[in-house]
Amino acid sequence: MGTIELEEAAVGCNASKIIRNDYVPIAATIVERIEETPNIFTWKLRIDDPKLRGDFTFKCGQFNMVYLFGVGEVAISIMGRDGDYLLHTIQAVGRVTNAMSNLAVGQRVGLRGPYGVGWPMNEAKSRDLVFITGGLGCAPVASAIHEAIAHREEYGRIVIMQTVLHRNDMLWEPQYDEWRKVRATQVLLASDRDKTAWPNWKKGRVAALFSEAKFDIKHCAVMCCGPHPMMTGTSRALLNMGVREEDIYLSLERNMQCALGHCGHCQMDEAFVCKDGPVFTYQRIKDVLERRGF
Ligand SMILES: Cc1cc2nc3c(=O)[nH]c(=O)nc-3n(C[C@H](O)[C@H](O)[C@H](O)COP(=O)(O)OP(=O)(O)OC[C@H]3O[C@@H](n4cnc5c(N)ncnc54)[C@H](O)[C@@H]3O)c2cc1C
Ligand code: FES
Repeated sequence: MGTIELEEAAVGCNASKIIRNDYVPIAATIVERIEETPNIFTWKLRIDDPKLRGDFTFKCGQFNMVYLFGVGEVAISIMGRDGDYLLHTIQAVGRVTNAMSNLAVGQRVGLRGPYGVGWPMNEAKSRDLVFITGGLGCAPVASAIHEAIAHREEYGRIVIMQTVLHRNDMLWEPQYDEWRKVRATQVLLASDRDKTAWPNWKKGRVAALFSEAKFDIKHCAVMCCGPHPMMTGTSRALLNMGVREEDIYLSLERNMQCALGHCGHCQMDEAFVCKDGPVFTYQRIKDVLERRGF
């Protein structure tokens, strides 16, 4: 995306120009709705136009602007692809996402995208991969984990760490059990507020998992997404362990409007999260990340 295309089309007996540009969403139909938790759901979406559907490709970590007609538009990570379907996992937190949660199978939404710079899957080849996610931060990272496992021989060890407040908040637990079975792959889970001790689960936050994580701190790529304090705390802990600033990748969230680097809503000093991110190295954004009130 990023260009304006002009298409010839016949309207009545005159040839006219239709302007198709990045501001105009394309229609997609909800073909399945999976209730993940009481306020998180996953949509399987099929882009209506077969040509646009076939042409749609994305990189792990990119996002779409998802538009609910008559209500508004929000940035949502592309969680994955299942054949013809795009997967989006959405938490109902406010005006647009609450209205989206009421849509039924067969109803339609608009999509613009994909946007943004994704995870560094190429740069990370041969390195150990460390995925660290908190809460719904697992959604932007899931496609990268699937990609790494699909090309398992191209990467070193894989460590997947996911933390939630309560075990009820955990998404896709059977999927994590499957990842656990993959060669040289470690899955570490923690919940912060539950009193019960479960097999394979730790009590606490990300720090509770670090002592068990086995990866080469000098030859790794860390991909992290979660609430802002979790990402700053995790980055500091990794730096203390000896991981280099340029090996820590963080996916940021900002209020987005255009997603094209035009409106400035997502600006962070000279960087636009929509266009230059949402994935940044810690080295690139440490000044704003550590700034009070950011
Ligand atoms: C690159 C990117 C990828 C995202 N991927 C996903 C995803 O995969 N799944 C998902 O559920 N959400 C995702 N989000 C967050 C999603 O865009 C917001 O939750 C959504 O915009 C909220 O819109 P709303 O109208 O429902 O809520 P609003 O009514 O706008 O806000 C409700 C509450 O959420 C807060 N809020 C709103 N937007 C954000 C934001 N971007 N970051 C932090 N707090 C916010 C507001 O301060 C308010 O307290 C992503 C955001 C970005 C920037
Ligand atoms: S959302 Fe408009 S500049 Fe990023």
